[in-house]
Amino acid sequence: MIYDNHNRPITYLRLAVTDRCNLRCFYCMPEEGIKYLPKHQLLTYEEMERLVQVLARLGVSKVRITGGEPFVRTGLMDFMHRLAAIDGLTDLSMTTNGVLTAPHVADLAALGVKAVNLSLDTLDRERFHKITRRDELPAVLNTLDALLKAGIETKINAVVMDGQNTQDIVPLAELTRNLPVDARFIEEMPFNGEGSHYPVLHWTHRRIVDELRAHFPDLHKLPDPPFSTANNYQIPGHQGTIGVIAAFSRTFCGTCNRIRLTAQGTLKTCLYDNGVLDVRALIRAGATDDDLTAAFLRAFAHRPANGFEAEQSRGVVTESMSTIGG
Ligand code: GTP
Ligand code: 5AD
Ligand code: SF4
Repeated sequence: MIYDNHNRPITYLRLAVTDRCNLRCFYCMPEEGIKYLPKHQLLTYEEMERLVQVLARLGVSKVRITGGEPFVRTGLMDFMHRLAAIDGLTDLSMTTNGVLTAPHVADLAALGVKAVNLSLDTLDRERFHKITRRDELPAVLNTLDALLKAGIETKINAVVMDGQNTQDIVPLAELTRNLPVDARFIEEMPFNGEGSHYPVLHWTHRRIVDELRAHFPDLHKLPDPPFSTANNYQIPGHQGTIGVIAAFSRTFCGTCNRIRLTAQGTLKTCLYDNGVLDVRALIRAGATDDDLTAAFLRAFAHRPANGFEAEQSRGVVTESMSTIGG
């Protein structure tokens, strides 16, 4: 196992397979989309597979496939099959918006994907359309249904937005009554690709919990698994659980075990850094596995203790969540 310079183990890779998306959630991208990368600038599946092998040898045991929307890239399921065969990976999961996912759910289950995180901010078709700028709620609900039927552990990710979907907090939490889902409420982060200044966050993790408690007075705290981004809760008698992610307040840097590879092959050792290593350039210049290992180890020895503070002091955020990979 590899530890960083603050003694945090690095065991979790978030791998973005594309920066493209078939939705346009306004908190992530502008209406016209972001400037997408040309194909040759994306890591190929072969390159990604090799990088995961190298990282698995260094102790990375969990890989979460993200995007953009992973299923927008062709050939994704073949790639998933290859990843599933890599020695040392014990946890292969995915974050998806669910628009194209339903037909692949049985295959995901068959190859051993145990958990899928589904982005779903509202159960109301009109609000869904407004938030994502696409009328795709039925397809997403189909995916939710398929995931649960296949016995895949499912977390619903809802970004809580002032004036947009706070009325959905209770209905989404209600889903946990009869379904074994984890409904997670996420503080909105300023990564909408539009170069915003740091906003004031109206719905903090505390306010979200207060809102839940107002409707479910018995809401009780569960112990959080190690490295959890969420504070976990349950309503007594409900099958599912509830999570609140302080993504903006960022209360979890101290136990951060994750690194990211963007679709163009940039290594990020913190959500808030601008990329610390151009892995694509290294690979395409002929780096051996030993060269890659050495470069990763150097990067892991320089992780910030709390990248959020540094980012805040810069004041403006230009990136989209879709290029970062969430
Ligand atoms: P698990 O692997 O199930 O724990 O999921 P996760 O919470 O790591 O991943 P997911 O893709 O579901 O992301 C949920 C939310 O947490 C998204 O809004 C992410 O952007 C946010 N998030 C994930 N990692 C970090 C992080 O390192 N810092 C911050 N601030 N937010 C993060
Ligand atoms: N703030 C918080 N979460 C976000 N996501 C995308 N953009 C933002 C943002 N600005 C979430 C998506 C997805 C996860 C990977 O990141 O809803 O579930
Ligand atoms: Fe697509 Fe996810 Fe961004 Fe929405 S938040 S536009 S689903 S990448």
